[in-house]
Amino acid sequence: SSNGSTEEEKTLAMIKPDGVLGNYTERIKMVIVESGFSIIRETITQLDEHRASNFYVEHSSKSFFSGLIKYMTSGPVLVMILKKENAVADWRTLIGPTDAQKAKITHPHSIRAMCGLDSEKNCVHGSDSLESAQREISFFFGEISSGDAVGEHDEL
Ligand code: PPS
Repeated sequence: SSNGSTEEEKTLAMIKPDGVLGNYTERIKMVIVESGFSIIRETITQLDEHRASNFYVEHSSKSFFSGLIKYMTSGPVLVMILKKENAVADWRTLIGPTDAQKAKITHPHSIRAMCGLDSEKNCVHGSDSLESAQREISFFFGEISSGDAVGEHDEL
């Protein structure tokens, strides 16, 4: 039966350098699909310092910023647009807490528990809000067609 009014969202997922280099890509994608997300776009890219700093600009005053940028430019990342009802919050739940070391104890089934190491090398990224998702999708993929629009907005 059709259910055309179901609210679908898009979020940005990223497999960070340690995840790509550690060969976790296929395992993570399997979890993504088994959890009901569709991967509607994906691209592999190497961030340089300028692009990484722009992506993480809201954290530029944090003590860990230079370490974060060095790490995020240390190898290729795989970025994906995930689509599903409640995608933003559900992807954040699936990846688990920032500190992968703590994730192994408190959220042992999370993706960060599976493949992360600590608060820096935590394997994956997820947009923290619908607004961040729109910005981050646009950052990597530019404008996407209105049929793919995130939420109700189309100012990607
Ligand atoms: S905060 O202060 O609550 O906004 O920070 P948080 O959301 O936990 O983390 C924001 C991003 O910074 C990364 N991070 C770190 N990188 C390196 N070293 C340390 N200590 C560190 N702590 C946090 C964290 O992985 C987040 O990146 P993303 O890609 O958004 O997951």
